[in-house]
Amino acid sequence: MGTPTKLFLFLIWCCFLSAVNADFNITLDDSDPLIVYDPPTSWTQSSSNDLDFDGHHMLTDDPSATATLTFTGTAIYYLSPLWPYRLNTLITLDDQPPVLVSLRDHNQPVVENGPETTASQVVWSATGLDNVEHTLVISVGNGEDVAVVDGLLYVIRYFLPFVFIFCCP
Ligand SMILES: *[C@@H]1O[C@H](CO)[C@@H](O)[C@H](O)[C@H]1NC(C)=O
Repeated sequence: MGTPTKLFLFLIWCCFLSAVNADFNITLDDSDPLIVYDPPTSWTQSSSNDLDFDGHHMLTDDPSATATLTFTGTAIYYLSPLWPYRLNTLITLDDQPPVLVSLRDHNQPVVENGPETTASQVVWSATGLDNVEHTLVISVGNGEDVAVVDGLLYVIRYFLPFVFIFCCP
């Protein structure tokens, strides 16, 4: 046996091969073309505000309007600033029951229709999902005023079948 072959056999004997999952976060601004606004004319971009993720958010008051993201991954996070009055957005993931998410800033006195008071942050999430295609729909809740889209973060998972996790010295 030549030296390279011996070295190769030694490495195979001495190293543990493993399969691992690697997660990566993908963050989308409301202006990302992956987010489909329907009908587009029902949605308007807010004026610029530093408390928004990437400076703006999208807004609708049309009870039949939707914003849809289709993604393949294991988690999804909805980011939004908070306002000093009652304001909710409806979020529906796949065929799960819709969730009405509050965007009210409870640390502020109520100022009806006042400007946002807290910077964009995760206000709703779904984790531990199967690593398959999912559909997230954002819309106006029944009897609510508006729906807001500011930032969406999803986690993609790569399966790496052969990774050296440990080699003896
Ligand atoms: C992905 O984002 C979530 C939510 O912000 C965070 O909890 C997590 O640590 C992030 N993961 C990575 C790999 O950056």
